[in-house]
Amino acid sequence: MGGGSEKADKPGTSELKRLRRRCEELGASIESMRAYYEDLLGSLQDGIIIVEPDGHIRSINQAAEELTGLSAQMFRGRLFEQLFPNDRSLRELVRKTMESGRTHADFDVRLTRHDGSQVVISAVASLISDGMGQARGTVLALRDQTGIRELEERLQRSDRLAALGTVAAGVAHEIRNPLAGLRGAAQLLEGEPDFPSILKEYTSVIVKEVDRLGAIVERLLSFATPRGPVLRSCNLHEILDGLFFLERAPLRAANVTIQRWYDPQLPEILADPSEIQQLFLNLIRNGVEAMPGGGDLTVQTRFERSAKRCGGRSVAVADIIDQGSGFDPEVERRLFTPFFTTKEGGTGLGLAICLRIVEDHGGAMEATSTPGRGSRFRVWLPLAKQPEAVSFHNESQGTA
Ligand SMILES: Nc1ncnc2c1ncn2[C@@H]1O[C@H](COP(=O)(O)OP(=O)(O)O)[C@@H](O)[C@H]1O
Ligand SMILES: [Mg+2]
Repeated sequence: MGGGSEKADKPGTSELKRLRRRCEELGASIESMRAYYEDLLGSLQDGIIIVEPDGHIRSINQAAEELTGLSAQMFRGRLFEQLFPNDRSLRELVRKTMESGRTHADFDVRLTRHDGSQVVISAVASLISDGMGQARGTVLALRDQTGIRELEERLQRSDRLAALGTVAAGVAHEIRNPLAGLRGAAQLLEGEPDFPSILKEYTSVIVKEVDRLGAIVERLLSFATPRGPVLRSCNLHEILDGLFFLERAPLRAANVTIQRWYDPQLPEILADPSEIQQLFLNLIRNGVEAMPGGGDLTVQTRFERSAKRCGGRSVAVADIIDQGSGFDPEVERRLFTPFFTTKEGGTGLGLAICLRIVEDHGGAMEATSTPGRGSRFRVWLPLAKQPEAVSFHNESQGTA
């Protein structure tokens, strides 16, 4: 084919061209493979760190950057040990895997993030080996377990509450009658014609203390044997305003001013008004008690569509913000535990009752604080009409 003399010097050039093209193709396919693996690693929810056999970090994905708080730049070319000086169990995991060639896992590792904060993670280290069984490194998969731990704690807490409820109901029942007897006897004594009036001081102490005990028993009983909320559509702002009206005298006495930041568009919630009133009464009393010198107690409401905290339902969010003492992390951990109190004469049932009410309503609550500056208690309560249902309805009938 073709002229012989022309062909004699051209094969070299065309061969070169072909080779160059082939090289380019190979380069492109390596590049696309690299991009593919980067995308793959990047799209994983788990944090992935690949460690070379000599202990240097080869690559990390975005989830690992987020989890550790370190950037890929900080990782590149560094020794794994250097980057996690405080996380012995993690280093051990990689070391054991490299030495034994087997996968090692730990489902309860505390990882110190770059900013010093800690997260609970699970970690699985596996060996990467080539076709000949030669070790090429270790891949470490990290997963944030904070959410799961919180869920576990919530479950344990509700188990404890249920068990406690049964015991408390029994105890409260046993105590109520003797208390009534004591009170009656003290009053009868006082009523005796020849009862020395000088002793009246003592009988009145008996009556007062019995009443105090009685109040605790009543709270315990209402906590332990909830009757279950009777749900209906109601206006949260009306409930709150009713409460502030009822509490106006103690609020004024404590020098506390209520600041209302209501969302005027807030739809109605699905709730038992008396329970919701109890819930906010407990929160407001705590706020007042945290501000012995008085101050502002802010009540803010807003609407939130598909709240994660409530299984994606639409909710009303209410914040109760005080300017009081706040609480430290140790107290925060135990806030909702029944009988946990830091107050002399406190029952430690207020927040446990709040939590029970909120959970009975399918809502959620959380507390945050800046010690010394104040606290914020946030409550999520599901709305009566979930927008999905509303918009479905409206679509077929025009806007209502
Ligand atoms: N608004 C608040 N500011 C600071 N600490 C609070 C607040 N609310 C609750 N606490 C803390 O939580 C504890 C438990 O509260 P609670 O269950 O209402 O019981 P009690 O009020 O009887 O102590 C309180 O003793 C207090 O230490
Ligand atoms: Mg309280």
